[in-house]
Amino acid sequence: MSNSIFTDTLKGIKRERPPVWFMRQAGRVLPSYLKLRETYSFRELMTNPELTAEVTLLPVNDLGVDAAILFSDILVIPEALGMDLKFTDKGPVFETPLRDSKNQLASLKVDTSKLEHIYKALDIIKKKKPDDIALIGFCGSPFTTFCYMVEGNSTTHNFSSAINLFYSNPKASTEILETITELSIEYVTTQAEHGIDVFQLFETHAGLIPSEMYIERILPFVKRITNAVRIKNTPVIFFPKGIGAGISHINYDIADFVSIDWQSSLAEARTLCNSKIGLQGNLDPRILSIDNRDILEKELEKYLSFGKLNHNWIFNTGHGLSPDNSFDNVKFVVDWVKQTNWNRE
Ligand code: CP3
Repeated sequence: MSNSIFTDTLKGIKRERPPVWFMRQAGRVLPSYLKLRETYSFRELMTNPELTAEVTLLPVNDLGVDAAILFSDILVIPEALGMDLKFTDKGPVFETPLRDSKNQLASLKVDTSKLEHIYKALDIIKKKKPDDIALIGFCGSPFTTFCYMVEGNSTTHNFSSAINLFYSNPKASTEILETITELSIEYVTTQAEHGIDVFQLFETHAGLIPSEMYIERILPFVKRITNAVRIKNTPVIFFPKGIGAGISHINYDIADFVSIDWQSSLAEARTLCNSKIGLQGNLDPRILSIDNRDILEKELEKYLSFGKLNHNWIFNTGHGLSPDNSFDNVKFVVDWVKQTNWNRE
């Protein structure tokens, strides 16, 4: 494991400041990424291991973050399950969504060789990255992956076909979730074997269903994936976006850290979760699009009292960076977290 402020914090070792990184840091907020996109498609950057390694490390150099997250996408799992995926200007699209039939699921052909280039990229990143920078591997959590597989795209935002199937056909839904979970376990344990320092499970759409239903029908799948990684001695961060007060069910038996969305209060999450689990988050990324430093600085200062007292906390946004965020604002946040005196005794 890399020896860094990031990995120390994950292990519960008190450091002088929180580590800082952002979800979606290796994307369109970086001028260097946009420059590469003039030459290469997103698909090329994701599938050529040398290019993947280069893009993964861009934010370390350009922003000064404490961790690099593998440059890939959560939808590589449905693709390896045999679904035809296209990245279009309107986001990812599956030609034939998994609308209901059992036959459709049975006809999918798993091809794990489609994930090989990702393991190659991890090996290159491990060789190239500075020692004090942690490498984060990731995967989509089963429910979010299910939503994309059944809906076929993200343009409607409410994933109505996926939610309809989830309510009306629990048996077929569970079979799809089971299939996703089995391949995800193989995928993430192989990432662990290729030396990631930490693993994040992205449940971006946890908020699409009632939290009690989430806890009953989805959390057991989550636990199987997180356990499989933790057995390999790799710490896990879980991001259940939109789970609300259901966060009280996310404790150390599920993950080492839980990532808090920007709708929730970090201080409240701290009282709802058991003290053994660390927290990550949760600046509203939309603030990073406002052309006014005073507003940004005021929002950042709200974290001072929390960060002074809570040593098991990683600074991040409460969801991924978006293309309209200003690079200068994002860089300002990194410098601010690193230069601030957190007054930790
Ligand atoms: O965080 C990082 O910088 C690492 C790379 C990463 C990407 N996607 C690259 C990407 C990660 C961790 C993801 C996760 C992901 N992908 C999630 C979960 C996290 C979240 O932000 O909610 C989801 C839901 C997806 C599915 C996906 N991929 C969507 C909805 C889109 C289109 C919207 C968008 O942001 O462009 C993508 C495409 C995508 N994935 C891009 C990037 C950099 C944009 C590609 C480009 O046009 O250059």
